[in-house]
Amino acid sequence: MIHARDLARTFKTKAGSVEAVRGLSLDVAEGELVAFLGPNGAGKSTALRMLTTLLPPSSGSASVGGHDVVSDPAAVRRQIGYVGQGTQLGPLSPGARRAGKPGQGAAHEHDGGSEARR
Ligand SMILES: Nc1ncnc2c1ncn2[C@@H]1O[C@H](COP(=O)(O)OP(=O)(O)OP(=O)(O)O)[C@@H](O)[C@H]1O
Ligand SMILES: [Mg+2]
Repeated sequence: MIHARDLARTFKTKAGSVEAVRGLSLDVAEGELVAFLGPNGAGKSTALRMLTTLLPPSSGSASVGGHDVVSDPAAVRRQIGYVGQGTQLGPLSPGARRAGKPGQGAAHEHDGGSEARR
């Protein structure tokens, strides 16, 4: 269902490069519930952004529902719903409505936390 192999993402900043995710490999089976835990800055959001096609990986590969997140992001989005952390979505916003219907192609994010710099 979800497969990642050596997924990595580096950000270039004025202060140098930041390895946000380094070599993430995981397999999640259909019907499996997974908690993805780690301390602040561990790279959780960056990993999720890659798995939900919101951010291209620097290297490695991942597929969701049998579709590659890089070569076929539209097919991935058709199968998922995703709301990023700290979302400010109101109940009536179009993003909230779409996100509430899994399988209708939503990948929405408005992060007030560490991603707000983006
Ligand atoms: N757009 C960006 N530009 C530069 N550095 C970034 C960017 N996004 C994330 N980072 C850095 O990458 C690392 C991982 O950040 P990330 O937001 O993925 O961690 P997190 O596990 O989600 O943290 P938190 O628990 O605080 O939400 C941190 O050092 C962060 O500062
Ligand atoms: Mg986060």
